[in-house]
Amino acid sequence: MEDADSYLFTFKGYNFERSLIDVDQLENLDDFEIRDDDVFIVTYPKSGTIWTQQILSSIYFEDHRNKNSHEDTLARIPFLEYNIRKVDFSKRPSPRLFASHLPYYIVPKGLQNKKAKIIYIYRNPKDVLVSYFHFSQLVTLLEVSDTMEKFMERFLDGKVVGSRWFDHVRGWYEHRHKFNILFMTYEDMKKDLRGSVLKICNFLEKKLSDEAVDAVVKVATFQNMKSDPQANYNKILKEEIGTRKDGHFLRKGTIGDWKNHFTVEQSERFDKVFQKKMENVSLKLIWDINEE
Ligand code: PPS
Repeated sequence: MEDADSYLFTFKGYNFERSLIDVDQLENLDDFEIRDDDVFIVTYPKSGTIWTQQILSSIYFEDHRNKNSHEDTLARIPFLEYNIRKVDFSKRPSPRLFASHLPYYIVPKGLQNKKAKIIYIYRNPKDVLVSYFHFSQLVTLLEVSDTMEKFMERFLDGKVVGSRWFDHVRGWYEHRHKFNILFMTYEDMKKDLRGSVLKICNFLEKKLSDEAVDAVVKVATFQNMKSDPQANYNKILKEEIGTRKDGHFLRKGTIGDWKNHFTVEQSERFDKVFQKKMENVSLKLIWDINEE
């Protein structure tokens, strides 16, 4: 039964942010026309979406990587399901770049042509949870949890936009053979940004000069993005989405911040759920900055 008062809108068992979606568009997503050269960044929320948008935008657009762009990242790489600027995607020139938090079973069927490319970025879920906890306090549209304990409860129950992390990651991984998809971790990007940019270029069959790769890496660092209004979404957050207080989309950008937030009991509880839900999933996860 749909709860009309909730900020969550559940469609096919997956939670969307109610005020940002267009139900007609969702109902027609299956048939959304996919072009062979479309590229999608797909993530569970708080896993490095904006970061990958910045990387992709600067791989594709010279003016973006040279900071001469008048278009912000969201204009270059809009969200498929949260089309807040009401763009007519069918009129966008190719190659079209999109971001999305959709689970594998809701994305347009045409993606199974295996030509259009998907870059799936995932991040260790303890850091995702912490990032999400802070983001929920910042953004007016989301529900605030006053304690980590309460937020962990919601997160583990999937009562957040994006539903359960486990289902999202597991679902995409187990159905990867249906798609033309590259899996990458937030942590690998953090540890080796240049190597990650090259891996993405390789997957996209984009040949950039060494100087251009250097420029992409430079604009994609946390420090640059945090201070660059085109890249950090601060304006979008304030003016198009709405915030409760001052704060940044780019909050801390580290690996292992969960250690500063979880009690030992909370961490153990999380581990138990993780082990059960991710059994037999051989995806690599990095929980600590010192891990290989
Ligand atoms: S959203 O709302 O789902 O689109 O959020 P998303 O962009 O997926 O994730 C936000 C987190 O990514 C961090 N971030 C970065 N980390 C390292 N380097 C760079 N360049 C970078 N850009 C974004 C951002 O800081 C959020 O994580 P936390 O842990 O909250 O800092």
